[in-house]
Amino acid sequence: MGFHLISLSALLLLTRVFEGLALPFDKKYNISWGNNNVKLLKNGEEIQLSLDKFSGCGIESKQSYGSGSFKMRIKLPSKDSAGVVTTFYLHSHTSHHDELDFEFLGNRKGKPYILQTNVFANGIGDREERIQLWFDPTTNFHEYSILWNSHHIVFFVDEIPIRVYKNKSYRGIGYPTQPMQSEATIWNGESWATENGSQKINWSNSPFIAKFQGFNIEGCPSNYHSLNCNSTKWWWNSKKLWKLTLDQEKSYKDIRSKNMIYDYCKDTNRFQNIPLECSVIIKYLIF
Ligand SMILES: *[C@@H]1O[C@H](CO)[C@@H](O)[C@H](O)[C@H]1NC(C)=O
Ligand SMILES: *[C@@H]1O[C@H](CO)[C@@H](O)[C@H](O)[C@H]1NC(C)=O
Ligand SMILES: *[C@@H]1O[C@H](CO)[C@@H](O)[C@H](O)[C@H]1NC(C)=O
Ligand SMILES: *[C@@H]1O[C@H](CO)[C@@H](O)[C@H](O)[C@H]1NC(C)=O
Ligand SMILES: *[C@@H]1O[C@H](CO)[C@@H](O)[C@H](O)[C@H]1NC(C)=O
Repeated sequence: MGFHLISLSALLLLTRVFEGLALPFDKKYNISWGNNNVKLLKNGEEIQLSLDKFSGCGIESKQSYGSGSFKMRIKLPSKDSAGVVTTFYLHSHTSHHDELDFEFLGNRKGKPYILQTNVFANGIGDREERIQLWFDPTTNFHEYSILWNSHHIVFFVDEIPIRVYKNKSYRGIGYPTQPMQSEATIWNGESWATENGSQKINWSNSPFIAKFQGFNIEGCPSNYHSLNCNSTKWWWNSKKLWKLTLDQEKSYKDIRSKNMIYDYCKDTNRFQNIPLECSVIIKYLIF
């Protein structure tokens, strides 16, 4: 009896530890460019990526994945960061590429950080959304994550869904299908990132430093050809993750109504014909 109790609590503990699993940087990631601007901290459990006048830098997952859950804990550059772009994204590196982006657009000191997300499918993007973060992302680490299964793609901030992109490919709407690598970078985006590019980088505050932890990927590795990345044997493909729970739906609507500042679906200056996936009818169709 006692033994059962102990093993049960040990199991629960293990489950909890596993859910919040933080991996060392080099378990699944590699430096991809700007070596000199990448520094490993805390025995490789944390890294810092910096941007100076000479270079930015980036990391990428060693493997490509065909579906999965991708998590990163990030602390953004704390100084006046106008023009500095920090990213965490998935990318297929193919000629008609798929891509899922978190792009943090630096801002003048005291102004809110803006988080842009985008979805590319088969080389076509132009699906930007922007939200103002409801906390200061420069003082603490926060978790940013992407769930990608065959039913939808969900962008989360601290487990709050901020964006959902549904698979409506049967309607001819693009949906990422190609294996992607998980990546993170910091770079000079002053030509566009802050107030339409009018706010440039103040180099006297350089280097700009972003810190990363967690490095957690649970994905279907694309090089295992025998495995079907759509299989419900992978936990992120299981039926309960085919749509948001009622609680998630509630926080999703709430955060978007309060914090969303740009939605490509509503940009009639930019699009003469609003993209098909924006149609209300298409959006709320169950199938
Ligand atoms: C990771 O980077 C190291 C050093 O640059 C390189 O030798 C290795 O091949 C890379 N691994 C992968 C899977 O890209
Ligand atoms: C998208 O959904 C369709 C069914 O409507 C399915 O056949 C297809 O495999 C899904 N796409 C991906 C990438 O999972
Ligand atoms: C950026 O440009 C867009 C479109 O030209 C405009 O609607 C918006 O107000 C501009 N934003 C800023 C901060 O200047
Ligand atoms: C650039 O940053 C420095 C140091 O924080 C500050 O003294 C200076 O006023 C800033 N320049 C501009 C143009 O904002
Ligand atoms: C997912 O399933 C669809 C067919 O339903 C198939 O075309 C696609 O290759 C599958 N994706 C993966 C990664 O196995």
